Parts: sequence; structure tokens; C-alpha cells
Amino acid sequence: MNRRNLLKSAASVFAGLVTKRELAAQPAIAKATRGLPSPKIKDIQVIATAPAGLRLVVVKIITDQDGLYGYGCATFTQRADLVVPAVEKYLKPFLLGKPTDRIDDTWQACYNSSYWRNGPVLNNAISGVDMALWDIKGRQANMPVYQLLGGKVREAADCYTHASGGEISQTLDSARAIIDRGFRYVRVQVATPGYEGYGAGRSGQATAKVAGLHSGAVFESTPYMRSALKLFEACRKSLPEDIELLHDVHERVHPIQAVRFAKDVEQFRLFFLEDALSPEDIDYFKMIRQQSATQIAMGELFNNPHEWVPLISQRLIDFIRIHPSMIGGLTPARKVSALAEAFNVRSAWHGPGDLSPIGAACNVTLDVTIPNFGVQEHSPFPPHVQEVFQGCPVVKDGYWHPNDAPGWGIEVNEQAAAKYPFGSNERDERKDLNGGWGEVRKRDGAIIKQ
Ligand code: CO
Repeated sequence: MNRRNLLKSAASVFAGLVTKRELAAQPAIAKATRGLPSPKIKDIQVIATAPAGLRLVVVKIITDQDGLYGYGCATFTQRADLVVPAVEKYLKPFLLGKPTDRIDDTWQACYNSSYWRNGPVLNNAISGVDMALWDIKGRQANMPVYQLLGGKVREAADCYTHASGGEISQTLDSARAIIDRGFRYVRVQVATPGYEGYGAGRSGQATAKVAGLHSGAVFESTPYMRSALKLFEACRKSLPEDIELLHDVHERVHPIQAVRFAKDVEQFRLFFLEDALSPEDIDYFKMIRQQSATQIAMGELFNNPHEWVPLISQRLIDFIRIHPSMIGGLTPARKVSALAEAFNVRSAWHGPGDLSPIGAACNVTLDVTIPNFGVQEHSPFPPHVQEVFQGCPVVKDGYWHPNDAPGWGIEVNEQAAAKYPFGSNERDERKDLNGGWGEVRKRDGAIIKQ
């Protein structure tokens, strides 16, 4: 403590503001809470790795202070190669030498510097930077990021994982195994006999494949909805009644069919029906709302505030399901949370396998710090992912716990990451398409949304 502060403190004792004991403790407190001087961005690197087949992109920001760095998730698996130059060729020269401690300011600067904005490639590049800066701030403060956001409002995040099968009986078995592991929420999907499906592969050998006017698999919305309704009925008959069921339509039906489907599933009391409509059709949510009380989740494909603001402010959905890196990281996701809180819309952040553990840590951090948390999607981390990302947040009895180590609490083993370049363990279509997805067609050959 310098002389001026000491005199000030002595005056405070005299004025009765602090006790002598508090005054005596000041040097120790100053020493314990003194932050490092503001670090500057010295280097930005991109780690591109595919330890479990899915292409993960992580941004590493290195500061001018020895040993102080941070990681952020910039994963857009279907176009992963494009995020790398967005960071290296544009954000890196823009940010070198800038301070690391102005996170929102840096976000605004990056966001506006491309003039045209809100695409998934650029938003992910910004997310990599944004989350890395939060990681750095946490490491500086020696606190997990959840502490920087005000601390926990709950102990851990209740999460759901995926039960699926070629037949209804297989989905039920898969759900029971998940329930036995302690989960209270289960997403259920089943294949449609003879057809292409979503989230459940193909149905059993006994079913003949429906042939279309093309060589690929066929998806049709009517048989899909029929199979899904049979699945929910079976789940309600044979799974414990207090288990919450979730289901993902993956925007594969026509809007008016989605309105009817939401009415038909109301009797099965889903925790939520996800992506009943595509982002292009969000005006139809008004009809769903007027005609049923089915709980609605939406938003994993959103990149732009124009997509989520009306759905939240008009109370047309129950759960906002944004993928934080797709909108630019933790900084904008916190703002979406606050907007949603004002309208009593809860969160269900997107948590698929094609998300790095850094992105998962960001989800769990939001989950434990926002009052309007709903549920968290959980995809297990395969062993090779855990080899690369050390300190992944852990699920116990269906609750996801944030890591207590500083920042995100995750270290990236860069040598292990280098063992799994893009394309490692990739199969079929994804291998041929550089990690991209292929196509889904109707019987007559028309493309559908997937
Ligand atoms: Co989904």
C-alpha cells in the first residue's frame, strides 16, 4: 500500500469507516487480489483436429505474459476448413497487439470489421476469439469463468442424452440404459420403416427399402410422423412416468404438418419438441402456439438476432436452443440469456458431438449461471477427444458439473491434437465431402431440409 492510501485508510479508521484490524489486513489483501497488468495479444493460432472423426476448430490466443493463454471453440464441422483462414487471415492481423481484457469491445470490433456479418463462418471465428479471451481472464483471476459471471445459481446442469433405435423396442432399451445411468431427461428418436430418418439410422433388415426416382435413401414426412407418434405412445406406456421425453423433428416436415404434429404430441407431454420448423418458417410458430400447449424448443440453426428476438419477445417458444459459437461465443449468448429471462423463455443450448469440449464448457458455464436454464443437451466425449482436451466437464447421475479449474478448466494437448488431422476416422459421405453433409431427398427426388 502506498503512503497516500495508508493516510486515507488511517483517516477512515478515524472516521469509523474501517476497524484497525481491517486496516492492518490491507497489505495482505492488496497482495492477494492484485491482478496482472493488462496482457496484450501476442499470437493467435488455430488448432484443427478430428480426434473422433468430427472436425473441431479451437482458437488459441497467446498473450505477451509468459504462460498466459486461452482457448475458444470455433467449431463449424460442416465447413470447418473455412473457419481457419477467417481467423488466421482476418482476425489475427486485426487483433495482434490489442489488450486481452476488453472482451465485449473486442467482440464488437471483430463483428463490425467485416461490414457484412452474421454468417456461421465469421461468427465461429469470432467465437474462438471471444471464448479464448474469457479463458484468459479466468486464468488471470485464478477463477473458473462461471465465477466471473457472478457465480453459480445452481450446483450443476440437468442434462439429456440421445436414445435411438432402428425399432421402437431398441429405442426403449436405449432409453432404459440412459435412465439407469441416472438421467431424468431422454431424447427419443426411432427409424421409420423403409425410409431415411433423423437421429436413429435405418430400421431393421426385415423392412424393405422404399425406392424413389433416384438412387439415394428416401425421406417422407407422413410416415416419419406416424412412427414418431407410435414411439411416444410406447415410451409413455413402458418408461417411468417421471422421465421427461424430448424429440427432434430436425425441420423435416412441412410447416402445416408441424402445426398438426405439435397438436398430436400434446397428449404425450414432451419436455420439448425441437426444430418443428426451419428458420425460414418461423412465422408458423404463431399457429403452433395458438393451437397447442406442446413445449417448443428452437434455435440451433440461428446465426442472426433477427431469428431469435421475435420468437423470444413474442413468447412463441419455451426453450432457446442456440449453439453459442454459431452466434459469436459466450458474450452474445449471455445477452440472449438475459433477453430470454425477461420473457420467461428457458435455455437448452445445442450440445451435439460436433462441438469441442471448450464449447461444451461454455454451455455448462451458462447453465449454472443463468436463472432461466431449462435443460442441457449432452453428447459424451469419446476417449480420443478426452486425450486431446484434458479437463472436460464431467456428467454424474445426469448432472453436468462445470470444471473448477481457472478459465474453462481445459488444457489442449496439442501434440495429441496433431495426431488427428481433419479427415481422421471420417466415413462415407462426410469423407468424400471434406466433412460436409450430403443430401436428403423425397421419393420424387426433391431435396428437403435436413
Ligand atoms: Co436438433
